[in-house]
Amino acid sequence: MKLGFFDSGIGGLTVLAESLRLLPAENYLYMADTKHVPYGTKSKEEVRAFVFEAVEKMIEQGIDALVIACNTATSIAINELRERYSFPIVGMEPAVKPAVEMNRNTGKRVLVFATPLTLKQPKYYALVSRVDENGIVDSLPMPELVQYCESLQFDRQVMGEYFRAKLSPYDLNNYGIIVLGCTHYPFYTDILRDILPPHIEIINGNAGTVRRLSALLNRYGIETGLGQGNVTFTCTGGEEAYIEKMKMALSLLR
Ligand code: DGL
Repeated sequence: MKLGFFDSGIGGLTVLAESLRLLPAENYLYMADTKHVPYGTKSKEEVRAFVFEAVEKMIEQGIDALVIACNTATSIAINELRERYSFPIVGMEPAVKPAVEMNRNTGKRVLVFATPLTLKQPKYYALVSRVDENGIVDSLPMPELVQYCESLQFDRQVMGEYFRAKLSPYDLNNYGIIVLGCTHYPFYTDILRDILPPHIEIINGNAGTVRRLSALLNRYGIETGLGQGNVTFTCTGGEEAYIEKMKMALSLLR
């Protein structure tokens, strides 16, 4: 049994790292769409085509279930993917629902960071209007952040300045939770922790996604725990150096 994890780049590794904790004895295939990263600043039509092209490549390599470890790709293509393929497919969405629930009695607001494309999709509007009864959710696109992450820009000072500039229009006393609504962003959790006031919680949807994966595998009668916990890395551009980069980036998360 092989579990496929897909993202435009290294972001999905933050979900894979969580899966390796919860489901350590599986075999994983991780695919990054290096030919087309980043997705979040491109058009919906382009991203849709990229996702199907990459998923077809994963299917050629044999997968029994698929995690679209990318909020942007999920918001564009998850329905069509599920229509086209019969194996279990898990998608991601910004963790707005748990954030609103956690914040319900605090009188504080929720700030969602995500890619411009995710925040523009009807799926995101539908999610917010379903769960945000009191109008406490604000959204902040981060068009540059995936590229910083892909170039392994983790310098505390450089990134601290970037986040401070992005957050300067906001009075952070009014906020209780920041939602990381893109799988690349958890690489910056520690840097954000340093610059945010201590009362602000930082959450992401990764653990919830892996719990859904586990439940879905059960529902499909797919037996888990029989693999070796190995990860095969691949990318649409086939670059050896990128495969080394993915291994290194995953090691930062474990
Ligand atoms: N990691 C992807 C996400 O969760 C976005 C990456 C991109 O913009 O390519 O939204």
